[in-house]
Amino acid sequence: MQPVRWGILSTAKIGRVKVVPGMMKSPLCAVVAVASRDAAAARDMAAELGIAKAYGSYDALLADPEVEAIYNPLPNHLHVPMTLAAAAAGKHVLCEKPIAITAEEAEQLTQAASQVLIAEAFMVRHHPQWQRARELIQSGAIGDLRSIHVVFSYFNVDPGNIRNRADIGGGGLLDIGCYAVVAGRYFFDAEPVRVVALVDRDPSFGVDRTTSALMDFGSGRQLTFIVSTQSVPFQRVQILGTKGRIEIEIPFNAPPDQPTRIYLDDGNLHGNRSARAIEFPVVDQYQLQGEAFSRAVRGGTAPGYGLEDAIMNMRILDSLRRSEASAGWEAV
Ligand SMILES: NC(=O)c1ccc[n+]([C@@H]2O[C@H](COP(=O)([O-])OP(=O)(O)OC[C@H]3O[C@@H](n4cnc5c(N)ncnc54)[C@H](OP(=O)(O)O)[C@@H]3O)[C@@H](O)[C@H]2O)c1
Repeated sequence: MQPVRWGILSTAKIGRVKVVPGMMKSPLCAVVAVASRDAAAARDMAAELGIAKAYGSYDALLADPEVEAIYNPLPNHLHVPMTLAAAAAGKHVLCEKPIAITAEEAEQLTQAASQVLIAEAFMVRHHPQWQRARELIQSGAIGDLRSIHVVFSYFNVDPGNIRNRADIGGGGLLDIGCYAVVAGRYFFDAEPVRVVALVDRDPSFGVDRTTSALMDFGSGRQLTFIVSTQSVPFQRVQILGTKGRIEIEIPFNAPPDQPTRIYLDDGNLHGNRSARAIEFPVVDQYQLQGEAFSRAVRGGTAPGYGLEDAIMNMRILDSLRRSEASAGWEAV
């Protein structure tokens, strides 16, 4: 397979530090260009990572005929507009999460997605630890799946950070609540029917800084989550069945240079003493994500999770926000 020629839309930290280095490890991805609003910043990133071309505007990158696929890690309010612009230029787009601010906005991508491939960059679904956890669930290793509990937090009070800017799609629900929603849909292999959320907003930023939620996946299956942008950094997924439990130790920010672990516990002993560790060799989930999208581009096939999946995730996030306003259960 000839590598897919990628262009990177902006010098965003996630691209510079994680996603682009991950892709560049792969023979399936050739990162050929990067663009920034600031030409010097684009040149710096190109020099740092060994990217051949640096552009001083996003439009110049989109006009480059060598570029086949765009990675879009812009602030959330620019995900849909710049994905549309890239698609209009004939480029496939791997767009950072959340794909939009609302489901209605995400739906604007429908026409474009019939012309080019568009996918939301939930790298976690490409990590073998998520895939193995789901296999264990499906094989009955924990009995009947009953509940999932997700915690994801970090501490960030930088007023300039995109997460603390309400006007450009900030807030914890969009930034990390989206992962809790993905976890529920992935492990239950189902969609929630109704949700309820409790939201605490930062009084000066106006963004949600702590959100707890309960999601009803039907047939007695429940997911709870807490996401916070102003709490000690922590992340964990707990999956409880009738006969066992699966814990994903570092479910979201799995390191690209260290083995990771999940635990399978029959609950025989308290304090994790009956938990068996399952270790995964070093793997870079961003590399795997870039490879999956590149294969879809070359194969002319739909990405494993395409626009419909992304729109569904946004619908659930919308219903969580409606629940904040109504202070009650909201149908998805
Ligand atoms: N999948 C993951 O693991 C993961 C992790 C973190 C973040 N993300 C997602 O990736 C995206 C970027 O996050 P980040 O933390 O990397 O952001 P960031 O470092 O702040 O980068 C955002 C970039 O967007 C460009 N930009 C264009 N208009 C802007 C505006 N009005 N304000 C600020 N920046 C603007 C800037 O690039 P130029 O100046 O070069 O044009 C900026 O560097 C978000 O959607 C976030 O949800 C994903």
